[in-house]
Amino acid sequence: MKILSFGSLNIDYNYKLDHIVAPGETISSHELIVTCGGKGLNQSVALRKAGANVLHAGIIGYDGEMLKKSLEDAGVCTDLLKVDPEHKSGHTIIQIEEGTAQNCIIVCPGTNGMVDKDYIEEVVSHFEAGDYAVFQNEITNVDYAMKCCKEKGLRVVFNPSPMTRELAESDIYQYVDDLFINEVEGEQMTGKNDPEQICLDLKARWPQCRTILTLGSEGAMILTEEGFLRQKAFPCEAVDTTGAGDTFSGFFTALSASGKEPKEAMELSCKASSLAVRKMGAAASIPTLEEVLAADF
Ligand code: RIB
Repeated sequence: MKILSFGSLNIDYNYKLDHIVAPGETISSHELIVTCGGKGLNQSVALRKAGANVLHAGIIGYDGEMLKKSLEDAGVCTDLLKVDPEHKSGHTIIQIEEGTAQNCIIVCPGTNGMVDKDYIEEVVSHFEAGDYAVFQNEITNVDYAMKCCKEKGLRVVFNPSPMTRELAESDIYQYVDDLFINEVEGEQMTGKNDPEQICLDLKARWPQCRTILTLGSEGAMILTEEGFLRQKAFPCEAVDTTGAGDTFSGFFTALSASGKEPKEAMELSCKASSLAVRKMGAAASIPTLEEVLAADF
């Protein structure tokens, strides 16, 4: 069984600051750290570090060699990755508030915005029923890609981030088997702010879709056939929360695909996220499954 991770690759420009800049304000940063990220790349690395056989599909530009290398260093297959020599890769500007580790991200799509239907069809032709396909909302034509994968019998995993009003109201969720959202996204989709109600509303609307709701420092919950399952977060001194959600969804998907029950998969995924926020950088901070198992919480 293979996992297709079809998603964004970004060069992350991380600026460490006293506080997140306010409208009209100009402030100096303490430090700039350039790292590899993109929700797609981060999830590929998390999937691989949790033990999955992952192929990443997506597009980098003439400046994207470091992104390709970071996938390969983690053991992710890049045979399906496309290089566009004419354009720049995606990049982000990430403000990180020292002290709270809160962040604020501006995404500039670059080549992530150039994923077209021909490329999607070529990529999907390499997979078969029973394989997994993992998506986020940082590439173009994600709805078409999910539809192709669903029609071919792949299990479709979706993290609808960055959320937009159009995406919240769309019917793209008809293709989704596992949906990873946080409370804010859940409220945008359902108009509810109670975590249980968010899961129940989504279940009523998309019965085939399993919702995994992340609750920040409160952990995560999932609505299974047997009812709600909750996992508390593992407390830690956070340095940089960027990529914590990608770590959680990548781990949960890889562990579920390897046959772990939701309870164990949730616990290990929360532990992986707790380790990831202790280090700077999105992809660079993702632990291996061995590190998660060996960690003392
Ligand atoms: O989820 C974290 C990621 O969001 C960052 O790595 C950044 O690239 C943005 O896509």
